[in-house]
Amino acid sequence: MTSPVLAEPDGRSARPVYELANVCKYYGERGVVALEGVDLTLREGEFHSVIGSSGCGKSTLLKIMAGLTPPSKGRVMLAGKPVLGARPDIGMMFQQATLFPWRTTVQNILLPVEVREGRAAAEAARARAYGLLELVGLKGFENTYPSQLSGGMAQRAAICRMLIAEPNVLLLDEPFSALDEITRDFMNMELQRVCLERNASAFLVTHSISEAVILSDVVHVMSARPGRVVRSIRIDLPRPRTLDMVVLPTFGAHVSEIRHLLDTGALP
Ligand SMILES: Nc1ncnc2c1ncn2[C@@H]1O[C@H](COP(=O)(O)OP(=O)(O)O)[C@@H](O)[C@H]1O
Ligand SMILES: [Mg+2]
Repeated sequence: MTSPVLAEPDGRSARPVYELANVCKYYGERGVVALEGVDLTLREGEFHSVIGSSGCGKSTLLKIMAGLTPPSKGRVMLAGKPVLGARPDIGMMFQQATLFPWRTTVQNILLPVEVREGRAAAEAARARAYGLLELVGLKGFENTYPSQLSGGMAQRAAICRMLIAEPNVLLLDEPFSALDEITRDFMNMELQRVCLERNASAFLVTHSISEAVILSDVVHVMSARPGRVVRSIRIDLPRPRTLDMVVLPTFGAHVSEIRHLLDTGALP
């Protein structure tokens, strides 16, 4: 069965990719409430962010969406089907690049293909890996080991590793938070570019209000424990976003609104 195509408030129509309904997560015997009643819909080609204080359940939410841990209650649907386990068709990226030090850059990027489809398939994907490295400005570093890459370069390699399987859904858990601001700005624009080129849907966990606003179509603001979405804010800035949009009044208004929610409503 195909999902119904619903009209967006801004006139666009797009299929739901993720549909979460009343998602809750309790940890341990004492039942720590990590997530409570999360409802959200991520549509094809959309970029959503979730922002909230440390420990409010952001990573838990992402792991549930990825099928790495089940919800205690509620429903998670991906492309109209329930998420029941880890999904190889989803691209994931974490705060640390976690490249294997004994493998070169290109060998690290090809690893997911090798694990899933074997050495011959990885060899066949080599040209594509080189293309991705060029896309993120790492041409010439194909045979370099991770110890010789800067933090930003390693994260760019991790983006290539995520993209090699051509996922249409990207789940990102604070992937750029260890980077300096200039590199981070650059990586944000790179991420937007790959999403727009592939019409990929993305869900980003971040601590940075400006990063959330510049990248997202929707920002979900989470309260501290128990983590719940207190407001979902649609960001009405045109695409493609550019870094100079930070001076626009709309950008400033969204940043103020989110900061206010985090300072008051979204914290205990
Ligand atoms: N595997 C686990 N077992 C028990 N408690 C956990 C586990 N993972 C996370 N928690 C708890 O759930 C809450 C949310 O954690 P997390 O999702 O990592 O938050 P965030 O990513 O927003 O910092 C925290 O109180 C954390 O201690
Ligand atoms: Mg986290």
